Amino acid sequence: MNTRILEVSSSSPESHAIEEAASVLRGGGLVAFPTETVYGLGADAQNEKTIRKVFEAKGRPADNPLIVHIDSFLQAGLFARDIPEKGKKLADIFWPGPLTLVLPKLKHVPGIISANLDTVALRVPNHPVALALLKEFRGGVVAPSANISGGPSPTEASHVVKDLDGRIDLVLDGGRTEIGIESTVIDVTADPPIILRQGGLSRERIEQAIGKVGTTTQEELLKRSPGTRHKHYAPKARVVIIGVRDETGFAGEASRFDSSGKIVGAITHSFAASSVKSEFRKKLAGDPAIFAQEFFRALRELDEKRVDVILVESVEEKGIGSAVMDRLKKAAQT
Ligand code: TXA
Ligand code: MG
Repeated sequence: MNTRILEVSSSSPESHAIEEAASVLRGGGLVAFPTETVYGLGADAQNEKTIRKVFEAKGRPADNPLIVHIDSFLQAGLFARDIPEKGKKLADIFWPGPLTLVLPKLKHVPGIISANLDTVALRVPNHPVALALLKEFRGGVVAPSANISGGPSPTEASHVVKDLDGRIDLVLDGGRTEIGIESTVIDVTADPPIILRQGGLSRERIEQAIGKVGTTTQEELLKRSPGTRHKHYAPKARVVIIGVRDETGFAGEASRFDSSGKIVGAITHSFAASSVKSEFRKKLAGDPAIFAQEFFRALRELDEKRVDVILVESVEEKGIGSAVMDRLKKAAQT
């Protein structure tokens, strides 16, 4: 299969590109497109055969369910039933945006979408290209992040091409994504609702809207979100976490790996990491929101340079910083 790439304006996407992409979706094809979080790999949510291709293209385990993307809350009723009040309120305040709601699923929704759970995850993305495509297509579009399963999510079209070239039909290239990490997934079938994946919308903002959210045990998390058992976000290089502003700890780890013959890469924000070769280090912004924008790209770029290990400085665990740390910890799991 030849993967085509169509450039689109991210603020006012050209209608010919959007029509083309919608027609590929209608024909059972796979289309990667930008959202405000990361690029998604889209397929018609009513077409089981195509959805199977999504799992194959990504190498995604079948027990990791997909998010259905819709163009507005009005379409939620096509997939979900008995939407709890807190779910309605969150949708009202935060859609379109980086928030995914897990809701009771309608019977006709293909089991393959939800890993045979009795819930379905819905999101209205806040990106002109994604919204234009959903409106033109006039139906739900399943869209996992458009990367090979287990690796860093794609924040620009070249990342999608690198991972999925020849496996998908079309990439809409709308430039870099704004948030840089995925949406927050919240299960509103529980009361209080439970955050299953931290992401672009912080717990603090959710709690301002609906009050306290619940906590969950690892066992319950696996029941509600079985996909969390798998490897996520990890580059090919080993990832090692360094404390915030721990320049001494950093230097120790760098020299330890260096003396065992490893090529060391670094991602930091508060110090320069000058013991690491300049081509192998990335200094990002200290503001966690900007760190989030650049984090996956930095991992990918260091992988391209074939470093063996990436030492990453932590960010403060509040606001979107907690979501960044969650990804960093998963990427560092060996
Ligand atoms: O920002 C995002 O959410 C991006 C863009 C493309 O929208 N999509 C994304 O999809 O990150 P993916 O497939 O990489 O992650 C989907 C997450 C997984 O953690 C999955 O377990 C969870 O959503 N999920 C999907 N359906 C679920 C369900 N019915 N119950 C619980 N968790 C669900
Ligand atoms: Mg993903």
